[in-house]
Parts: sequence; C-alpha cells; structure tokens
Amino acid sequence: MTKAAKSLKRGNLVAFPTETVYGIGADATNFNALSRLFSVKSRPHSHPLIVHIASLDQAKHWTTEIPNYALSLAENFWPGPMTLIFSNESLAGNLVNGGQASIALRIPSDPIASQLISEFTALGGHGIAAPSANKYKSVSPTQAQDVSDEIGPYLSHSDIILDGGKCSIGIESTIISCINSKPRILRPGAITAEMIKNCVGIDLQTGKQETKLRYPGIEKSHYRPKARVVLNKKAKPGEGFMALSHIDTPSGAIRLASPDSVEQFASQLYATLRLADKKLLDTICVILPPASGVGVAIIDRLLRSSYKNE
Ligand code: TXA
Ligand code: MG
Repeated sequence: MTKAAKSLKRGNLVAFPTETVYGIGADATNFNALSRLFSVKSRPHSHPLIVHIASLDQAKHWTTEIPNYALSLAENFWPGPMTLIFSNESLAGNLVNGGQASIALRIPSDPIASQLISEFTALGGHGIAAPSANKYKSVSPTQAQDVSDEIGPYLSHSDIILDGGKCSIGIESTIISCINSKPRILRPGAITAEMIKNCVGIDLQTGKQETKLRYPGIEKSHYRPKARVVLNKKAKPGEGFMALSHIDTPSGAIRLASPDSVEQFASQLYATLRLADKKLLDTICVILPPASGVGVAIIDRLLRSSYKNE
C-alpha cells in the first residue's frame, strides 16, 4: 500500500476499490497526472472529478464554504457512499474540477481506499482525484478484473491496480450539491433522499438547476454496455435477462442474474451488464426493481444505459 501511495505522489495512476465502484486515482494537485487520467479515460477535460480525502479536516484545503447541513451530512454518512459539492471561486479554471468554481469531495469507507488515502496524506498529499475506472460513458467497474479489462491497455508499467475484491454497494456514490441554502441531489445513490432529509431536517432543493453547472444528470446516455439494454419488456429467446429473483425467466431467455433484494440488485448490476457483453449477447432485458432505497439509483443508471435503445 505504501508503494501505491508513493507511486501516486510521484505522479502515477493507482486504481483502487471503494465500497461503491473502483476508481482510478491521481494526485488531485498534479496537473500532469490529472491530464493523463483524463486521457486514459478518454474523458473530456470539462468533466469534473471527485477528490477523495481522509478526513473532514482535509476538506478545508478545498473549500471554506461548508454549510451547517453539510457538516451534519458529513458526520452521519462519511466515511461512506456520499460525495458533497462545495463552492470555491478560487478553484475556477482548475483541471481537477473541470474548470468550475466548485469541488466534489468524498471520504470512502472501503479499508483499502482509506489506507491508501491516509498514506498519501501522510506523504503530504491533499486528496486523490478518482473517477470510476472505466472508459468515458461505459459501465463502472466493480472488481479489479473489470478495471484491467477496461483501462489496463492504457496504463503504463508504473501505474498500479489494487485488488480489493468485489465492491459491496456496486453503484456510484450519491452526489449532493451543498452550494445553496438547501442540499440538492445531483446523482442518486445508496444514501437516499429520505436519509438525507432525516439527517438535515430541511427540505431538499428539487426542480430545474438554476446555474450552468455541469453535473451528472446532464448526460442522458451513460453506463452503457455493448449489448442493447431494454427495460421492462418480455425478453425474447436468446436475449439476456435480469430481474429480482421472484420474477420468472421468459421461455428461452438467458437468465444472467436473480438478485433477492434491491441492495443485491445494485451490487450485481454492472457485473451483469458486463456478463451480457462477455456472452456476446445483442440484448439484455432488465425488469426494473421498485423505486425504494437504492432502487432509485438503479433506475437512474438503467434509464441512462438504455437511452435511445427503447
Ligand atoms: O462512487 C463514486 O462516486 C465513484 C468512486 C470511485 O468514488 N466515483 C465516480 O466518479 O463515480 P465519476 O467521475 O465517474 O463521476 C463523478 C461525477 C461526474 O458525473 C461529475 O460530473 C460529477 O461527479 N462532479 C464532480 N465534481 C463536480 C462538481 N464540482 N460539480 C458538479 N458535478 C461534479
Ligand atoms: Mg463514472
């Protein structure tokens, strides 16, 4: 692990597990390392990255504007599957945040991620910028093998992929904008609207974005496997099929996953989309789970996976 932290500090890339999905990390203050990160992912420079930090104290390096409700969120849900966005005018024009006057911060709970960030901090680091370790618009990786399949060929021999097994949650963090007087969910995840509302005791901001901020909901098409993703239709013979375990497989369809709960659905979703591609299937039909708990995030991702396919 110390080797990985040192390698990051020298400007190399390190892929690491988190409880949500695998990230591909770079020193958030190193311009050259960040440039390589964007190029490995084929991601446009205008798309901001999440900076992974070790403690709330470290957030002070990145922003001075932390509202009280954000402190409550941080105390309740960090370390964990939640990203908070704060404003910072002085960061405008920076590469790490896509040039915006704001910064996204997260303290993950995965033990390997925690140790890596702590050791990087001990070496003088201020945070690890890490997007999901997949090519732009593709499916996020939930095990180390997915990372090598997706971006292995684009890494150099000095870069490292840490293997922490399968991600427990399997779907990206909830992103909450903490820029205005009320929190606003920009990307749903395992920390749900209800959990946020119960924690902060105020209503969430909803409705149309009032600024030109680039945020996750902007991309209608994302999280796409090669197979066509079709939602809530009866699978035809030869098509892949994913649904909660109590739903029967249509005759001739190829059952790829039978999760027993929405949580299992989330943790199996991306691996199942990848499996459809490994099996060279043209189509995978998914029966959406109920929109409760992490189900809201699953539906959000699947609507993007299937965009223009329906
Ligand atoms: O669970 C996760 O959040 C994973 C793990 C590795 O931490 N990371 C992740 O990163 O999903 P990425 O880059 O694949 O998605 C981050 C999203 C992007 O859609 C980006 O637009 C949004 O976060 N984002 C980052 N900084 C932002 C900012 N300052 N303002 C608005 N959106 C921001
Ligand atoms: Mg991503």
